[in-house]
Amino acid sequence: MSVQPGRLLPLLTSHRSGRSPVTCEYRCGNACAHPAPNTSDNEYFGDVVRNVVSRRGALKAGAVMTATAAGFAALSGTAAAAVPPALAGKPGTSGRQGAPVPGTDFDPVAPNTADAVVIPEGYEQRVLIRWGDPVVPGAPEFDFHNQSAAAQAKQFGYNNDFVGLIPQDGSGKRNFLVVNHEYTTEVDMFPAGTYDPENPTEEQVRIAWAAHGLSVVQAERERSGGLKVVPSRYNRRITMDTEFEVRGPAAGSKYLKTSADPSGRVVRGTQNNCAGGVTPWGTVLSGEENFNQYFANAETVTDPVQAERLARYGISGGASTRKWERFDKRWDIAQEPNEVHRFGWVVEIDPNDPDSRPIKHTALGRFKHEAANVKIAKDGRVVVYSGDDERFDYIYKFVSNGKYKPGKSAHARRHNMSLLDDGTLYVAKFTGDSPASEIDGSGALPSDGEFDGVGEWIPLASGNKSFVDGFTAEEVYVFTRLAADKVGATKMDRPEDIEPNPVNGRIYAALTNNSDRGASGKAGADEANPRNGNRNGHVLEWEEDGAGTRFVWRLLLVCGDPATADTYFGGFDKNAVSPISCPDNLAFDSYGNLWISTDGNALGSNDGLFSVPVDGPNRGQVKQFLTVPIGAEACGPVVTDDVVLVAVQHPGEGAGAANPESHWPDGGSANPRPAIVAVWKKGRIGVR
Ligand code: FEO
Ligand code: CA
Ligand code: CA
Repeated sequence: MSVQPGRLLPLLTSHRSGRSPVTCEYRCGNACAHPAPNTSDNEYFGDVVRNVVSRRGALKAGAVMTATAAGFAALSGTAAAAVPPALAGKPGTSGRQGAPVPGTDFDPVAPNTADAVVIPEGYEQRVLIRWGDPVVPGAPEFDFHNQSAAAQAKQFGYNNDFVGLIPQDGSGKRNFLVVNHEYTTEVDMFPAGTYDPENPTEEQVRIAWAAHGLSVVQAERERSGGLKVVPSRYNRRITMDTEFEVRGPAAGSKYLKTSADPSGRVVRGTQNNCAGGVTPWGTVLSGEENFNQYFANAETVTDPVQAERLARYGISGGASTRKWERFDKRWDIAQEPNEVHRFGWVVEIDPNDPDSRPIKHTALGRFKHEAANVKIAKDGRVVVYSGDDERFDYIYKFVSNGKYKPGKSAHARRHNMSLLDDGTLYVAKFTGDSPASEIDGSGALPSDGEFDGVGEWIPLASGNKSFVDGFTAEEVYVFTRLAADKVGATKMDRPEDIEPNPVNGRIYAALTNNSDRGASGKAGADEANPRNGNRNGHVLEWEEDGAGTRFVWRLLLVCGDPATADTYFGGFDKNAVSPISCPDNLAFDSYGNLWISTDGNALGSNDGLFSVPVDGPNRGQVKQFLTVPIGAEACGPVVTDDVVLVAVQHPGEGAGAANPESHWPDGGSANPRPAIVAVWKKGRIGVR
């Protein structure tokens, strides 16, 4: 179905909170209901600048501003040619509108609350694979009323998030589809009356272990358009039982040793895999995000150092939501104090070899990794960007010592995968260029017309060398959040996906929201996080030579209702954009347009997928491409020239299995199933 598009898109009148309480409980252990774990007194850059500006006055700030504008040019080579076209205009005041931009020329979908994937007129859609569909040979068909752990371990897992589409041949006919299964929502997964959250059965817990992890399936392009999943020897499930090799400088660390693994080098399973990235060498990086919620009995830890480390990662006392600790002591911190340190990493999966052992990369640090995306620096070194998705947490990058070897041979792949073992881990500091008095927390643009400034990457550790006082290198890698607190990193509004634009080379970060910004005792607005009580999030853009330590940045979008004064759409006419709220996952099309999926729309519509040009006169023209069903989050967007893929995560979540709010995708009275959807039309996506 399709909803009639409008030029100026109306908002829905009935507002609801962005996420259901059940989503919050199962996805992130109710993170928002707990105090933000970053209670450090880290006086980060925003505070410093405010002090400097108030002492020295606006003149100095003006000088910084000029330096920033020049910075985008200077960092990208020859000055004039490198200034992004959008900077030439007067952002925020001109009401610019240009001709339709290739890749984004479609009739936008209006905000809605339909129990459907709603796509533009003229497009087709198909569900590629749903929770429970067979993945590996011998997998049984899904039976909602007769689930088993053995079946689930061969079937598509629950709550699909990241989606990677990796061509296996030059024509793109055969592809690997690699999907994260972030978490389980047991009250929706099991038939009504069969699941007691206080007393799950061992089989139900084992089903949940098998429903986590990743799936690798082969997907073929169809003549009629779109894709279909096919049986293949490459098809694979990775679950809580799959062995991972721990690599990098913290492999074998005393903090990673357990009774089951005295080597500290082999971990069973991966957890809460949220978003990820496809590497230039054809593997997938996947972020272990809200791992904290699976561990029980943290209150038994009396050693203050260890207690502080647990608290900084949001690991609190008592039983866990899912009660896994009753069936395997590794989830019980009182019995296995180090198992919790073996999660919170970036993992790497090689879909080319179904027998390969996946990797946990310690050199990229341990935090609530939303995702990890790679850029090759000018000198050939590999740069990996990753956000720590928590209110007031940080943005990181890793720069390898070795250089990327082009090609996707097994030899090149092995070399490139080893690059992530050895390099430097940094955390980001953002400094605004406008006077502090102009960043008042309302979202009103400062007088220079942009939220922008300069940035610095602060080194944390490189190999066995620590750059943080009081921390050994292995402590930096295992307790990265605490190390970053010490060096003045900027407290951000929940950094989600961070993605380099393959066309213009700039980096983009989604900051989902932060209702606590500016609250009593919390960090106030700064130019990189300019709204107090930020409910709708923003999108940050920066430019650097990936291997360097300086950059320049600005906000592309300050999201929300375009009719309100606190939103900013890259200077584009706000009368002609789609409302957007809670940006989460990012992708680029082949033209360099940014695509954004959302999680937790606070404006009353279902979540969705949006396109936005980032250069030229249409910079900031947000258009909604699709909406996902009731209760769902839109994830994992992949945008190629001829197909768009989106992961529909947790449709109908929160209502329970007895009276589901959503019946997507099977319809009728069926219980909802998370699934991957392909959308296409005859001809190129976003081109008429
Ligand atoms: Fe799993 Fe940060 O979203
Ligand atoms: Ca500014
Ligand atoms: Ca996410």
